Amino acid sequence: MRKPFIAGNWKLHKTVAESVALARELAHGLADVKERDVAVAPAFTALASVAAVLSESPVALAGQNCYPEAQGAFTGEVSPYLLKDVGCRHVIVGHSERRQLFGETDGFINTKVKAVVGAGLTAIFCIGETLAEREEERTFSVLEHQVRIGLNGLDATSMQHVIVAYEPVWAIGTGRTATTGQAQEAHGFIRGLLAEMFGDVLAQEIRILYGGSVKADNIDALMAQPDVDGALVGGASLKADEFVRIAAFQNL
Ligand code: 13P
Repeated sequence: MRKPFIAGNWKLHKTVAESVALARELAHGLADVKERDVAVAPAFTALASVAAVLSESPVALAGQNCYPEAQGAFTGEVSPYLLKDVGCRHVIVGHSERRQLFGETDGFINTKVKAVVGAGLTAIFCIGETLAEREEERTFSVLEHQVRIGLNGLDATSMQHVIVAYEPVWAIGTGRTATTGQAQEAHGFIRGLLAEMFGDVLAQEIRILYGGSVKADNIDALMAQPDVDGALVGGASLKADEFVRIAAFQNL
């Protein structure tokens, strides 16, 4: 069975001191977490300090973004190797904020997924439709395009180092969570597509997270869906109590 994965994306929030304080609370609150993987993605500036706090904890560290080259004259960028060096095991790639605010294309995101996997890390590969796309009934075709281009050239072996995060753009930061039916429908579609592309074994093994206004009071119902294997949590991951409760979800 797929081990649930709960990840907190801290986005552009928290100083080093604030990040360390939150990490300490999580290390304490999640010390005994079992049967699920938990990770947090602080801002780059806080990674080293948070890594030190989490070193004895089951909570893993993730980067929020990366540049696909290992090193070179790329002012302002951070490579998967540097993220690995500071203690990250995962990197979020293709978040909708990167796509929408920073113009990241499916092809560019594809190079990042490959770079992350090539560095020995796991990519948390984000996809999701906008509200307009959903209303035009283009959700499945948008997701298919994002998956086919974003994961182009990977094989079933490298896909073992990819986690997919379905984050409908209209649900991010809006308080408007997808219904459990909408989440399951999209996740089922994505798993079917992955089966077509990489085979049934990989499709059954790969974890597909839901993201978009996940909170302590909706996580249990989301996790009860057969194809929802975890969550990528934004706002609610900034509060220790709430994130600990989310990570302690109950399968209804
Ligand atoms: P919210 O949980 O704040 O809606 O953000 C979701 C998200 O973008 C996680 O990557």
